[in-house]
Amino acid sequence: MKSKEIRKRFLDFYRKRGHAIIPSSSLLPEKDSTLLFVNSGMFPLVPYLLGEKHPEGKRIANSQKCFRSDDIEDVGNMRHTTFFEMLGNWSLGDYFKEEQLEFVFHFFTKELSIDPKRLYVSVYRGNEEIGIERDKEAVEKWKEIFRNENIEAKDIDFAEEKGMQGGRIFYYPDEENWWSRAGLPKEMPLNEPGGPDSEIFYDLGEELGHHDKEEFKDKVCHINCDCGRFIEIGNSVFMEFIKKESGFEKLPQKNVDFGGGLERITMICQEKTSIFETDLFLPIIKRIERLSGLSYRDKRKSFEVIADHLKAATHIIGDERGIGPSNKEQGYFVRRLIRRAVRHGNILGIDANSWLKDVAKEVVDIYKETYPEIEKNSKRVYNEIEEEEKVFYKTLKKGIKEFKKFRDKSKIDGKTAASLYQTYGFPIELIEELANENGQEVDVEGFFEEMKRHQELSRKLSAGVFKSGLSDGGRETTKLHTATHLLHYALKSVLGDNVYQKGSNITSERLRFDFSYDKKMTKEEIESAERIVNKMIEKDLLIKKEELSLSDAKRSGALHLPEENYPENVLVYSFSDSDGNILSREICSGPHVERTSELGRLVITKEESSAKGVRRIRAILK
Ligand code: ALA
Repeated sequence: MKSKEIRKRFLDFYRKRGHAIIPSSSLLPEKDSTLLFVNSGMFPLVPYLLGEKHPEGKRIANSQKCFRSDDIEDVGNMRHTTFFEMLGNWSLGDYFKEEQLEFVFHFFTKELSIDPKRLYVSVYRGNEEIGIERDKEAVEKWKEIFRNENIEAKDIDFAEEKGMQGGRIFYYPDEENWWSRAGLPKEMPLNEPGGPDSEIFYDLGEELGHHDKEEFKDKVCHINCDCGRFIEIGNSVFMEFIKKESGFEKLPQKNVDFGGGLERITMICQEKTSIFETDLFLPIIKRIERLSGLSYRDKRKSFEVIADHLKAATHIIGDERGIGPSNKEQGYFVRRLIRRAVRHGNILGIDANSWLKDVAKEVVDIYKETYPEIEKNSKRVYNEIEEEEKVFYKTLKKGIKEFKKFRDKSKIDGKTAASLYQTYGFPIELIEELANENGQEVDVEGFFEEMKRHQELSRKLSAGVFKSGLSDGGRETTKLHTATHLLHYALKSVLGDNVYQKGSNITSERLRFDFSYDKKMTKEEIESAERIVNKMIEKDLLIKKEELSLSDAKRSGALHLPEENYPENVLVYSFSDSDGNILSREICSGPHVERTSELGRLVITKEESSAKGVRRIRAILK
């Protein structure tokens, strides 16, 4: 059964039982939220679980795009992904435990024909501290459901210590069978809803329980053990509590919040043991096989990291509220995902700087019918991914070489980690991954202290010196700033004197330059602008700084922004060749390098429209 069919059957099943089918919400939460990404189907429904009336009624179902950053490290074990689809149904003060457990069992065993003998369930053990009892009601219902299938269903406690003991229904504590957006009861903020839950597990077969592995050697097997035998495929949360100052209180209504991962359910239905072999991943895996010439089964972890991370990045950038890679918040996750994919591509020996978008195209193909926004925004997805890839590819190998210099140390200190981040763009998590592979530790705290010191320094500097759209005063940023002046000059030479700067934004990795011009530049124009800049770089122009009054500066022919309010005295930077001919002269607050030969070579990575009559160029230095 294709994943598309499973999704459809789920929604049809609940539609027939009076549920309104609502679309998936954006992956990026709407209001100021404590969470950066939507991590479950219930997330956008919280107001309705608390009692607000839902316009579609009391029975709702959907398939929701989710991203769980906590699972990044778990990718590589055939069953974890950061992006996934959650099939969900909700009762907003309508039906409760009995009907819910019947629904979900019926859906799995009748609609999807999953063998009931392979299903096991967990229920809440209860917690005296918060005054909530063990869930006997759910146990009784499960017994009845299994009895109807002629399956004996013993309820068993402490399976985590004593093993399966021939049971079918298992009690577990808060860690396993309490659900809220914020996690455990003690971690929940006030006014957060939550409740006990009951999970369903599928038995993949005893032979998949790897208790011969070191990690599981001395452990008993039970349904929540991660050995590989059991996999959780659905969770019914009985959301009837809210946390208050005095403890947990009942909500005015009893809710059900069910979620099941489409990827895992598909894996069971397609009789696979890895979700990466289902039709939700196979075209992506095949593409990586073609790119690398290797086979998934030989290099599972790297394949899974690349497939998962690029799928997630594609969905986050291609979302209706999509965002690209950056150094902050959600953007930082996108950056981490893309950079880690580049690194694992390197492990697979894919030696190219522009292959990620081929993988992203497979992702778009898989999801374009279900989530049309991903196709609508696909151009943006490919561009953002490619730009990030190019920037990181450039420094990856050098960074790894640098990293190897510290091979013999047992711990990578904060300063070294910070320098790997600043010079080579290695996210701290990637540094940790490299270190762990090498049996080393990283002083993460020291890293953050060092970064803070740098940021404070550059904030002080930027308050005083840097305007010009520079994000910091680092060396790479300064080089790109100087290159921006050369580019401005070159664009005037190629496109005419009407071209002037409309905006500039420079990071340590790329420059972005907006200028007045109302046509798309041709390939030839772009190439000649690049050529002019690189000629000037080769000529090793000398860069001179003078302080002049604004009127003298303008009179001297210095380029300036017509829309800018300048102070009375300004700095003018001029670039001259060895014969003393001035090629570029511009009012600017700096900083710049001393000679252009320090720059390397400029490559324009992109030319696009920025606003009406304004074009935008992105470029890097190689
Ligand atoms: N909200 C519940 C979960 O994510 C269904 O497991």
